[in-house]
Amino acid sequence: MEQISDYLCRYKNYNFPVGYTTTEYIDSLQSFEIRDSDIFLITYPKSGTVWTQQIIISICELGGGLNEYPNNYEQMPWLEYREGRADYSLRPSPRLFSSHLTPALMPLGLKDKKAKIIYVMRNPKDNIISFYHFSRAAADLESPKTLEHYFEEYMKGNVLASSWFDHIREWHSRKDQYNILFLTYEDMVLDLRTAVTKICTFLGKNLSEAAIEQVVEKSTFNNMKKDPKANYKFLPETKLKGDFMRKGNIGDWKNHLTAAQSERVDQLLQEKLGDMSLKFIWE
Ligand code: A3P
Repeated sequence: MEQISDYLCRYKNYNFPVGYTTTEYIDSLQSFEIRDSDIFLITYPKSGTVWTQQIIISICELGGGLNEYPNNYEQMPWLEYREGRADYSLRPSPRLFSSHLTPALMPLGLKDKKAKIIYVMRNPKDNIISFYHFSRAAADLESPKTLEHYFEEYMKGNVLASSWFDHIREWHSRKDQYNILFLTYEDMVLDLRTAVTKICTFLGKNLSEAAIEQVVEKSTFNNMKKDPKANYKFLPETKLKGDFMRKGNIGDWKNHLTAAQSERVDQLLQEKLGDMSLKFIWE
């Protein structure tokens, strides 16, 4: 891996955090054996990953047959980081994985379209602000000097997981190659119940209305914040000096970005994704 800063290294056009994985492991993922029952949650960072983990895990728990793990991090670990866990091929089914990777780095077996992928996208202006705050709190990310500086790095893709714009483009333009459900963070905020129902249907879990209601309750911002398996408070303070569950709303960017910065996001969005007919909810 080419180290591009104290905190980031690049491999195959993708920025990894330093010390979390190796080129050999990332290459080995190409032939990672996929099971039909595997479920992958894929996001660009700060797009609602831990939220969607909680929804998927709650659905699978109520649907029956999920193995016990101490928390959502272990229940739905990162595909790209083993972090001292046993070989994933030894994990009992159904396996749940999280990932921030782009399609080129993912197991080729996913193209059999049997295993399921849920991709969650968040509007880039709120994504910048959430990522900025998280970078200040996370020990393994470079702490931004100012939002202005962070904004420039984000726009250039010089952050973990590289460019938001490329991530969205790469996954959306390849959607026919995978068994994939696209959701947006904003749709989840505006109507959590509908999002939970969509995920249930996609996963083939036939939950009762009462069970769906239970999943919704477990996944609200306030309830997740209190849930020790879901709130990521189990991470040591040396790793994260702040809260994963920060604000959890739409439109916080209005409190932070200048009109000029907001326009630059609009321009880049048009330039990079203008042909893709994606809809964004900004407030
Ligand atoms: P904010 O920083 O804007 O508050 P990720 O899990 O991909 O790192 O994303 C983190 C973002 O999702 C944070 O956004 C966090 O507050 C938000 N989030 C987590 N759980 C949520 C929930 N139940 N409802 C709404 N937002 C949630």
